[in-house]
Amino acid sequence: MRFLFSRVQLLTLALLGLAISGAQAEIRQTSVWWLPRNVTMFGHEIDFIFYVILILTGVTAVAVFSTMIYFIVKYRARPGVSAVHSHGNNTLEVIWTGIPVFIFLALAIYGNEQWTQMRLKTPPADALPVAVIGEQFGWNVRYPGADGKLAKMTASKVTKENPFGVDPADPAGLDDFTTYGELVFPVERPIRLYLGSKDVIHAFYVPEFRLYQDMVPGRIYDFVWLKAEQTGKFQLACNQLCGQGHYKMFGKLSVVPQSEYEAWAKGKAPQPTAARETSTVPVVMAGR
Ligand code: CUA
Repeated sequence: MRFLFSRVQLLTLALLGLAISGAQAEIRQTSVWWLPRNVTMFGHEIDFIFYVILILTGVTAVAVFSTMIYFIVKYRARPGVSAVHSHGNNTLEVIWTGIPVFIFLALAIYGNEQWTQMRLKTPPADALPVAVIGEQFGWNVRYPGADGKLAKMTASKVTKENPFGVDPADPAGLDDFTTYGELVFPVERPIRLYLGSKDVIHAFYVPEFRLYQDMVPGRIYDFVWLKAEQTGKFQLACNQLCGQGHYKMFGKLSVVPQSEYEAWAKGKAPQPTAARETSTVPVVMAGR
């Protein structure tokens, strides 16, 4: 019996398919061969250190390989020429150990300083809080209402029905509104993210934001913040292989002027009466 493809060909095709499908849900829209454009404040520092490391390692690689090739040719085995015996050179040893130590320390100190700004300092007080809870395979998003406050989220209270782990009676949460897979951020305003997961490990990843954060179930991460400096449409992609539907775990993200954000939020906000009628969660208010 003859088959259309040999076994080796089929295996090659399967491997190719796997390689092309990749391990992340991102579909790159622009700049396939180089970094996507950067639109956030922190992105400048991240790109800067990327280029510094790229140039340092690039120059080192060229220098090391050309020296190596030169030596291989110059000291190749030839009849009548005996080998040169070297017992090392202390000055050279100190120089080529000292320079890398200095470079690595400088990179570590600079990187640590930037990381402190990004993740270890409290986000600005005027930041807009936005909660994003990953699930197989989508994004639950929660925005504050007119009070600018999100309901308090507790990781241990996160359930299938209560993805944000909030207390339905929390007065801060009564005017919150939610979307599924749709995020709108006002430009030039700090955004404080509250990230979590309902089931397995997901990751919040927006290449143009230079922002990546794993979301491990059982935790609410409240230290990630960003400030977008340009408007545009972007894609939030899950960046942890989280199951069969991982590849389609996208979110639509747009950065818009403040006024446009306000209009969008107004349209999404629950109407006080309608919310109470349609809500399946009892709305309990203090003093009633
Ligand atoms: Cu969620 Cu991959």
